[in-house]
Amino acid sequence: MATRQTMNQKTFLSSADDATCKQTEGSKSSKSLPSQTSQKPWPPAGVDWYFSDKSTAIACGDCREVLPTLGENVASVLLTDPPYGIVNQFGENNGNGCRTMQFSWDTPDGIRDGIRDGIRRLTASASAFVFCGLDTVELPRDELRKAGFTVKPAAWVKKCPPPSGHGNWWSSGFELAMYAYRKSPPFLDDDNKRCNVFTFDSYRHGQPGKLDHPTQKPLSFMRHLVKSMVVESAIILDPFMGSGTTLRAAKDLGRKAIGIEICEAYAEIAAKRLQQEVLAFND
Ligand SMILES: C[S@@+](CC[C@H](N)C(=O)[O-])C[C@H]1O[C@@H](n2cnc3c(N)ncnc32)[C@H](O)[C@@H]1O
Repeated sequence: MATRQTMNQKTFLSSADDATCKQTEGSKSSKSLPSQTSQKPWPPAGVDWYFSDKSTAIACGDCREVLPTLGENVASVLLTDPPYGIVNQFGENNGNGCRTMQFSWDTPDGIRDGIRDGIRRLTASASAFVFCGLDTVELPRDELRKAGFTVKPAAWVKKCPPPSGHGNWWSSGFELAMYAYRKSPPFLDDDNKRCNVFTFDSYRHGQPGKLDHPTQKPLSFMRHLVKSMVVESAIILDPFMGSGTTLRAAKDLGRKAIGIEICEAYAEIAAKRLQQEVLAFND
């Protein structure tokens, strides 16, 4: 059954010299969407969306406030990259407003609340992939377990790790994540050599595709995760969206995704990124 969707793209400020996004109204037909989550209106009602189109919805705000307004069973995959709780340990790197904001919420309790609220929006058969730092490993692990998930660890190995800074010993060549499922492993690929160690390059400053976000994840990695664990009819939830890499990967692969970002400058970067139609990609 084809459903009709309305595109509603909210006006937002553009810091660059390109045109600001204009209010666009229109209707488009979409593919049949059999999942539990897709029967609901898109974008989900009850939220003042910062940006939305037929596959993407971005809210600018604290996920702990936005998530409860989303209702239940809103997504079937939690794919997110919360802060690692390290800004308060090491202090701010620079004076930009987003870092100042990070300073105030970058605590284990704040992050735990966001992860838990995100899990509460998921369907019964949901799966999850949540990045974490050394001091936040237990947050996704414990919250997912409490919610009935089987939880396993994963690692992202950086092909060329950034050089070690002053005071560091070895440079940091990998990051941790937890992946989880409630009913059965969600893998869609038929690769029987699949492994929980993922090797992808991280972005360097000035590299094509690098945006003004300090912890932007590689788009190729996020596309790999979406391709491997998200069925086409699923809706992905990313409550700690940053520059919108999860949503961009979802859009490129024909999946729907909801993102929430507390810092307006990052929400705007994501909205501009998501304005672009699906582009050809080689990875
Ligand atoms: C590690 S970054 C995510 C980066 C993202 N994966 C990307 O590729 O750009 C975490 C993001 O969560 C946002 N954030 C932190 N606390 C939040 C909260 N309570 N609600 C919504 N966003 C939050 C931060 O501003 C930051 O941009």
